[in-house]
Amino acid sequence: MAEIVIRNTQERIKGEENVLAFLDKQGVLYEHWDAGKLDASLQEKFVLSDEEKQQILNTFDSEIRDLAGRRGYKTWDIIALSDATPNLEELLKKFESVHTHTEDEVRAITAGRGIFVIKGDEETGYFNVELEAGDVISVPETIPHFFTLMDNRQIVAVRLFIETEGWIAHPYEDPTFQKA
Ligand SMILES: [Fe+2]
Repeated sequence: MAEIVIRNTQERIKGEENVLAFLDKQGVLYEHWDAGKLDASLQEKFVLSDEEKQQILNTFDSEIRDLAGRRGYKTWDIIALSDATPNLEELLKKFESVHTHTEDEVRAITAGRGIFVIKGDEETGYFNVELEAGDVISVPETIPHFFTLMDNRQIVAVRLFIETEGWIAHPYEDPTFQKA
């Protein structure tokens, strides 16, 4: 279950009802899949062959197609990141700058953990969404955000796209954003 941290106040929001209500107010889609459906051998595996990626997509095929049908996604794939990923440091540096996209950014976490940092409404400011396996999030189009890993630096997620070009990152210069 995802948890929220408001960066300005360090307030932590827990519990499905509270998390859902908060994200709904911020216009962020949040859903949950049963991550336990995944074969146990893939629940803690972060270096994946093409066959294993396909196995993950097959496991969640009905969830993926249901979400895609409701929201218009046309393609999907698997991204896996860990210390075994070549250039992980460089990738994270690239990820960890605030940006926007012309379509929403959807991730369904199938193993590991990760954080989306999202610009909320004026009163809230930036908040972290800490995600774990089973969590599904969609950052709305044009909302400033970035993604990073948590301390364990391991994640596998399904990405869904309307148009792959829609995912191009546009840098968002924001003097109000404070990294730490
Ligand atoms: Fe993004």
